[in-house]
Order: sequence, then structure tokens, then C-alpha cells
Amino acid sequence: MSSCRGGAGARRVQYKSLALLVCVWIWLLPAGAQPAPARSGIATAHPLATRAGEEILAAGGNAFDAAVAISATLAVVEPYASGLGGGGFWLLHEADGGRQVIVDGREVAPAAATRDMYLDAQGKPRAGLSVSGPLAAGIPGQPAALAHLAKRYGRLPLAASLAPAIRHAEQGIVISRGIGMGLKFRAEAARNSPAFSAIYMPGGEPVQAGATLRFPDLARTLRRLAAEGHDGFYRGSVARRLVAGVQAAGGIWTREDLAAYKVVEREPIRVQYRDATLVMAPPPSSGGVVMGDALNILRGWDLGRLQPVERQHLTIEALRRAYRDRAMYLGDPAFVSMPIERLLSPWYADGQRTSIRLDRATPSDELPGIAPAASGGTNTTHFSVLDAEGNRVAGTLSINTWFGAVFIPPGTGVILNNEMDDFSIKAGTPNSFELLGADANAIAPGKRMLSSMSPTFIESPRGVAILGTPGGSRIISMVLLSTLAWVDGADARQMASLKRYHHQYYPDVVSYEEGAFTAEEKAGLEARGHRLELSPRSFGNMQVVTWDRETGRVDAASDPRGGGEVTVY
Ligand code: DON
Repeated sequence: MSSCRGGAGARRVQYKSLALLVCVWIWLLPAGAQPAPARSGIATAHPLATRAGEEILAAGGNAFDAAVAISATLAVVEPYASGLGGGGFWLLHEADGGRQVIVDGREVAPAAATRDMYLDAQGKPRAGLSVSGPLAAGIPGQPAALAHLAKRYGRLPLAASLAPAIRHAEQGIVISRGIGMGLKFRAEAARNSPAFSAIYMPGGEPVQAGATLRFPDLARTLRRLAAEGHDGFYRGSVARRLVAGVQAAGGIWTREDLAAYKVVEREPIRVQYRDATLVMAPPPSSGGVVMGDALNILRGWDLGRLQPVERQHLTIEALRRAYRDRAMYLGDPAFVSMPIERLLSPWYADGQRTSIRLDRATPSDELPGIAPAASGGTNTTHFSVLDAEGNRVAGTLSINTWFGAVFIPPGTGVILNNEMDDFSIKAGTPNSFELLGADANAIAPGKRMLSSMSPTFIESPRGVAILGTPGGSRIISMVLLSTLAWVDGADARQMASLKRYHHQYYPDVVSYEEGAFTAEEKAGLEARGHRLELSPRSFGNMQVVTWDRETGRVDAASDPRGGGEVTVY
């Protein structure tokens, strides 16, 4: 910590003693405890969600109460991205004692799910079944996670933290361009769900940007959750309506599936990269393992001393190898045993590094792995919160692709997820994000599908960053690039706005945003054998809150690619 270094001269002696005092004070704090930031910071993908968080902090709530309010509000104001019909991962840091935990509210496969449920008699994937309609939906985890967060970590009653979301659902929201675009994209599938169409496609056509929509059924479901907690969603009238709607449309959920849903608290994955400790999501999110695997590889070089094109090349090669490991090994820890210790060990990284050449890309085909039989956007959402006491939450939530399964069980207002598509529906068959998987991520009843959602804390002598983004398979590489930037001194705004590139093993291409590489860097990467592909869309919607421990400054940034808003006060 540079404030611990002191200086020279008379005035400096005073500073030196002060700095020494600060150092001793920090040293004496219990492990994991830190001085409080004294200010709060919130970054979310929607102004109303940021304001909901602010409102709850102002009412005496902590970061965990704010996380409940933000998550629930995002379910209303970004209905295409996350919601009660979906799931997510909430990474928490308790200021008092420094405990850190992942609240895993990932969806699970219903009990009647089978390994080959999306294949036809010839073993070929049946188009669309894992993407649209009730068969695509896993049992939601978000309502359980919100009830758990409020009960176990919050200071306010769940009903108080859900109040802003209920208000927005009842009073209505103005349809943004984003919602309008998403609707056009999923309009065909939407026609199969009368309850979805009644809200979003009155008269058979998608509602236009600028229109105001109210969600009385969703408000009623939220009220049940507020009044009865977990059981208000997973048992009783809401559960009955959810199951009836799913079954009537050919889905396989049962009341028992809902009654059996439980959140899981998990120990985060921690990886050291230079002077930073990364705190990340463990399986069934692949984020922590893939980031750790890639960063361990990169640790073998002093990236700061290399030319940008060499850094980019090595980052791509590290991502290629780490995403290969994702496809080969990762799944739900309750169902598969994973060599995580080995994947994150220094000697494994040494081995991976020996296969990397500085002058040449390694074609993915040359790595032992799975050969394929044959993007990221803003669906899914992330928020970051730091309260004045130092409690933190990084939450990434999703119903998967735009509007999830595009299906609402009548009377619930809940858009169901299509996260079943995150399973490997057949070994070697890419999913919606072109990700490959193997047995470890095959479908099984009660199993959680592998995720890329990567809510992350970076902790270094300089301070703390709380970050994450939507973007499907690209989430992990986006968080990794921003981590490298933080370690090099970037601030919140730079982390959220930097130009991004991505490699995920297969397809064997480097997808990049306009401006990510100079012409010279492009030529250098191509000369090494990388296939570059300019992405027609921008990547992600990152939300970052940082706390600089030296200056005490709290900062927040919302990705300029999205329409989010931040507050620091
Ligand atoms: O859990 C996952 O990895 C995906 N369901 C996330 C989807 C996503 O980020 C879509 N956003 N563009």
C-alpha cells in the first residue's frame, strides 16, 4: 500500500507517522475486515434499479437489502434480461468479520428432465425446444435467493425491499428501445404464449418503444413473495399457477419441483494475480475457474513489459485453454467431480504455458478436447453495490437469452427462463452462445446447468473493485480484461468502457469490438495465425463500483454500451 511508504522532510515526518498509524491500524484489523468506505456506490443497468437501491439504503437497509431491491426492480424494468422466472449468483462480502459467500440461485432441471430430452429419435437436437416454450425452463432460483438474502443478511423486511419493484410493476414502465428490439427478435416464439402476448404484443404486434406497460399479475406475485417469503412463490397459489401453465403448454414442471428448490451458499474461488486477490463464483458458474485458469497462465509473463500485440496474443491463448477446460470438466458440483484444484494449481498453469508459442496461435483442434459437431448482448444483467459500512454485493442475474423462454404461465406475470439451453444438450453440440460441453454438463434431474455468470470482487492494496456483466460466454473474458486493466491502474470508468475481444476455444476465432485492436495489432495477430472477426454488436453491459483505500474515494461506472446509471453518495 503506497500510503504506507512514507517520505522525507519535516512535514513528511508527520505524514510518515500518520501513515504508520494507518498501516498499524489496518494491520490490527481482523482478517478480512477493512475500514469502512463511508460512502455508498451503486451501479446497475437501469436508472430505476439504481434508485431502488438508493431508496433502500436511505431507509436504513444495507447493501444486501439494496441487492434485493435492485434485483427485484430489474425483474420489472428489464423484463427481457432477468426476473423471478430466472436465477443468478450474488457474491457477498460482509464488512463485519469479512465473510464472503456466493448465494447460488441458479435454476435446476425439473425431476422429469432427461439427458436426451431435446434430441429426436435419430439423436439430432430438435430445433428450438431448449430455447422457447416451457420445456426450455429450469426451476427458477431468483425468488428463493431474494428471500434468503433478506432473511439471512438484510436489515429490512423482505416486503420493504420488494416495495420499489411492486410499485413499478403496478404503476408501469415506459418501454425502452431495448425492450422493443428484444420483442421483435422473439415475436414469433411469443405468439405461442397467450399470457406473454397479452402483455407484450397486444393486437399481435410487439409494443412500441415509448408505450407504458403495467404488470398487475407480476405485482401480485411479488406481493405474495413479500408477504410469505420463499413459500409465497414455491408453494401455494403462485406455484399452482406456474405448474398449471407450464403443464398445459407441454412442459414438465411439477409442484414437487418447485417445493424442492433450495439456494446453495458456496465458498467463492480465490485466485491471486500479481498484487490482487480475485474473489469469484465457483461451479455451477464456470466464471471463477475459467478466470483463475487463464490468469494463472498469464502470471508467467510480465505483461506490462510486452508489446500490446504480444499481450493480446497471450490473453487469447490463455482464454482458449481455459475455455477448453470449461467445456471438458465443468458442471454442477452436486453431480460431477471436477479437478478444480488441479485446474487452478501453479504446475497445471506451467504445463499450459509450455504449449503456448509467442509467435503463433495454437489452433483449437490441436488441443486435446471436444470437437464441435458443427453473443453476447444485454439480456442478463449485473449490478454492483457497496454500502458505507463496506458491505458489498456483485450480482449477475439472468433468464438467459432475450425474454428467456418467451413464456408466461397465465396469471403469474413471470417470464420463464430458457436456461436449460445452458446444459450441454448433446456432447459437441454448441448452445446459443456457441459453447461446447461434455458429460460434466449433461442434463440430469435436479442438476444446475453450467453458467458463465461471473460476479467478481478484486481486492488489492489499491482498493476494491466490484464488477460483472451480462454477455453469455463472453462474460468471463470481459471480466478478465477489466481485471487486467484494474491491476494496471484503470479506474471504474475505464474498466466499464474498454474495448473488448474474446476467444472461447470453439469457434476458433477472436471476436472483437471495433477499436479493440489497432491496424498494426490486427496484422500482428493475423501473422500469428489468429482468425479475427469484427463483432457486429458491442459486448456486454458492465457495472463497476470501486473503492480506493488510499484516498477513500468511491467510484462507480456503468458501461457506456448500456443505459445504466450509477450513484455515489
Ligand atoms: O448463465 C449463463 O452463462 C447464461 N445464461 C448467461 C446469459 C447471458 O449472459 C446473456 N446475455 N447476453
